[in-house]
Amino acid sequence: MLEVLRKYVSDESLIKHCIAVAGIMREVARELKEDEELWWKLGLLHDIDHELTKGDMSRHGVLGEEILLKEGFRDIAELVKRHNHVLFENYEKPVEIALQASDSISGLIIACALVKGGKITDVSVKTIKKKFKEKSFAAGCDRERIRLIEKIMPLEKFYEVALRGVVSVKNDLGLS
Ligand SMILES: [Fe+2]
Repeated sequence: MLEVLRKYVSDESLIKHCIAVAGIMREVARELKEDEELWWKLGLLHDIDHELTKGDMSRHGVLGEEILLKEGFRDIAELVKRHNHVLFENYEKPVEIALQASDSISGLIIACALVKGGKITDVSVKTIKKKFKEKSFAAGCDRERIRLIEKIMPLEKFYEVALRGVVSVKNDLGLS
């Protein structure tokens, strides 16, 4: 599946972002007794068109859906289109809510690890909770999108589950 992503994405930091989101999504699926494989796949491929659309939010996700249909990923294509929160809103399905929150919290958790010298094992739920409140820390991580998770899981529980998700892929992210 990573090969499909690599066909369209060459930036290693974007690849890492996708792996981190996939790791979190899989862990959230496990927690909610949802389809772990499908949620992993969605996390991994959600930004497949990111380099091709170059920040054009009117095309982000829309092109992703086309690519995924062409590549035979019918089961996640529409979800990828709909994850563009500029074009869509009012997420109700757990999988969509989880993707919004996982997409946003991944950067925050990785930033927490980086201030600890790349050691994700030194990051705790307490660290994440503290840094979440510090608006200037990893300022690009949209706290409101993270908060959407409260529709399906307490925020603090999500910190714990998401942290486990990042730890599960730490080697791929170059963290220890
Ligand atoms: Fe993303």
